[in-house]
Amino acid sequence: MSQTGTLADPADVMLRLLAPEGKQDPYPLYEEMRAHGALVDLGGAHVFATGYAECARALREPDLLSTDGAVQDVKMPGWRDHSSWRWLTTNMLFSNDPDHERYRRFFSSAFSARSVEAWRPTVESIAGEVVEHVAVLGAGRATVDLVGEFSFRFAMGVIGELLGIPAEDRQGMRGMIGDITTALDPIGDLSELERGDAGMDRLAEYCHALVASRRRALGTDLTSAFIRARDKTGELTERELVANIMLLIVAAAEAPQDLLSNMVRLALEHPGHADRLREDPAAAPGFVDETLRFDPAVQALNRVAARDMDYFGVRLAKGTPLTLLIAAGNRDPRRFPDPGVFDPARPDNQPLTLSGGAHFCLGAALARMAAETAVPLLLRRFPGLALAGRPTFRDQLVQRGHATLPVTTG
Ligand code: HEM
Repeated sequence: MSQTGTLADPADVMLRLLAPEGKQDPYPLYEEMRAHGALVDLGGAHVFATGYAECARALREPDLLSTDGAVQDVKMPGWRDHSSWRWLTTNMLFSNDPDHERYRRFFSSAFSARSVEAWRPTVESIAGEVVEHVAVLGAGRATVDLVGEFSFRFAMGVIGELLGIPAEDRQGMRGMIGDITTALDPIGDLSELERGDAGMDRLAEYCHALVASRRRALGTDLTSAFIRARDKTGELTERELVANIMLLIVAAAEAPQDLLSNMVRLALEHPGHADRLREDPAAAPGFVDETLRFDPAVQALNRVAARDMDYFGVRLAKGTPLTLLIAAGNRDPRRFPDPGVFDPARPDNQPLTLSGGAHFCLGAALARMAAETAVPLLLRRFPGLALAGRPTFRDQLVQRGHATLPVTTG
């Protein structure tokens, strides 16, 4: 399947991808990987997918499992000593059926298209507040870091409002949430989970207190609704409830933060597209999709074969890990003409970034609506918005995004 010859060894490409320079700009390395094929088989030990169709089919294949506790027992012995993965494997993302189905059923109706539409006025009002906050910070041509002051503040404002997290607590959660996402990167040694463990412990403590306080005074927020349903039906344990509320917080804060920051950076790099976004509300959905395709907040997803199987001609033995390099799939030239060109008007643009199949992002409609609302508002409010330094990226591969995005507001 893979071509050989003068190409760099795929295992070496992976190592370079995981080095700090690779994480800053992984895209050339995905092309080196793609040169070996749409599926790259490291001697049966690990398979990487770089192709769009290959990733898309894997996401919809029930016998390719998400990383649950049983999978981790094989992949990462010793993980049970680490609170990051103990909590992660209790949420729907890192579960398989029957638990996954049970969790998804419990939480999914809260995020229906109808709910998302009903939240639009709240989202617009939070966007307005955050943009005015940026205006205050940016007065007198002061430099503002948009990652913290716009992207995180807005994303956390939205999920905080929905879950009933007090406004004064939200911004302080940035550090713990960022720390948790580091547990998703490949590791060489279990000690590399310490940062994720510490973040998870802090968030768990916070969420236990949140659930306890909501339970004492149930309100109209989603946390109260989840507590009511749990206490009535017993469908979830208390720990499962807390684990999935933690997932909702992390998922709705971190990836949307990165999407928003990337949208702003790409708008600043492409002034013509930015003007279209300012002038025409109909341009926003295409801009969101193209940002998700071109520079995705989630770069890779892991699956494991539940049985021996044939996958596009590659034999996957039961237990074989498969890494879907969805950021590479999003630039597959068989699927997207001129994949390296940022084109918000691209037709039939369906990036892999929100996943697909059973684990399709539960917050996809919310994430789109929120991004379509906030970024055009920011650009309209500040016609002179400009970079005030080089944006930096965090030292992470899986959940990739800007560490800083310094701007002046004009
Ligand atoms: C740009 C924004 C977002 C991106 C790129 C994103 C990406 C993803 C991806 C890739 C998955 C599936 C992972 C897999 O298949 O292994 C996922 C699942 C999930 N997302 Fe999102 N997400 C975003 C926003 C949100 C928001 C706003 C929420 C809040 C409600 C959310 C909640 C979830 C949940 C609960 C799951 C687990 C679904 C399941 O396992 O059944 N996400 N997301």
